[in-house]
Amino acid sequence: MADNNVSPSFPTTRPRRLRANPLVRELVRETSLDAGDFILPLFVRTGHGIRQEISSMPGNYQLSLDRLNDEVAEAKELGIRSFILFGIPATKDATGSSALRDDGIVQQAIRTMREQFQRDILILTDECFCEYTNHGHCGILHEKTGRTDVDNDATLPILVQQCVSHAEAGADMIAPSGMMDGMVGAIRSGLDEAGFSDLPIMSYAAKYASGFYGPFREAAESPPQFGDRGGYQMDPANGDEALREVALDINEGADIVMVKPALSYLDIIRRVKDRFAIPVAAYNVSGEFAMVKAAARNGWIDERRVTLEILTSIKRAGADIILTYHAKDAARWLKTG
Ligand code: PBG
Repeated sequence: MADNNVSPSFPTTRPRRLRANPLVRELVRETSLDAGDFILPLFVRTGHGIRQEISSMPGNYQLSLDRLNDEVAEAKELGIRSFILFGIPATKDATGSSALRDDGIVQQAIRTMREQFQRDILILTDECFCEYTNHGHCGILHEKTGRTDVDNDATLPILVQQCVSHAEAGADMIAPSGMMDGMVGAIRSGLDEAGFSDLPIMSYAAKYASGFYGPFREAAESPPQFGDRGGYQMDPANGDEALREVALDINEGADIVMVKPALSYLDIIRRVKDRFAIPVAAYNVSGEFAMVKAAARNGWIDERRVTLEILTSIKRAGADIILTYHAKDAARWLKTG
């Protein structure tokens, strides 16, 4: 940062000189948004002819495979190239076994998208088990000191299997979100052994145990059936710990690190960006999205203005990439000015 003391004070210095003319404002603008910054989350489910709007996430849908590519085409038309897939499987069990099947919902979705759009789009896959387990937790459970908890080390091998299966189906990037210790290292070696040493990993490195995931859990039909995720996701009160999590993931081979959620954690995004020379992603999560939509529907805020301000703030904080349900709206607004 430049030293502000070098500039003379008022009346020699008048910051308003650079604000009076909109064209000058444009010249000196520090942060810009582009549809190429966005990753659009998509929810795919089994069935036919389904395009079911998620009530708490207007403009976002549960899609069956036959309706998926229309949604991708619409987003692509607006300039969005990157998509992250979440699956709602037909069946759930204690170990989330439907996540590992070659004909699993996400595996089929990858192939469906790839067939039509080939290399014109980027397909990312969220790697976790909460959508596939009947208990809604992010891995296999065990009893430990009288508490039921996710068994970290037993979950790693099935997580690796899930990633390899998505890689084989044609995923372009792997995004593990379960906050298991050692997950990035295990996935990196599993992918390498399976011949996918060039496949990048975007790790949900600093993922907080957040109330802002509420609408997503409705969308993905994945709320935990007992307890919460505080045993593996981070305490919202902690900042230094996020830097430790990010450092571990980079050491284990993460190519991109994510902070999630975004808005209550802009300070974390900035600290990660300042500390590590690595691309940073931020997940503008479902609850953050729903609040904007709800307030806008009540006429309490200007949706376009607030959305673009929020997305700009996430970039200004240091994010290079934004996962957001606003992607289509924002891309449309950026296009039409
Ligand atoms: C876990 C996962 C979650 C989200 C993305 N991946 C849910 C959770 O951790 O409970 C939340 C995203 C959002 O709220 O938009 N598979």
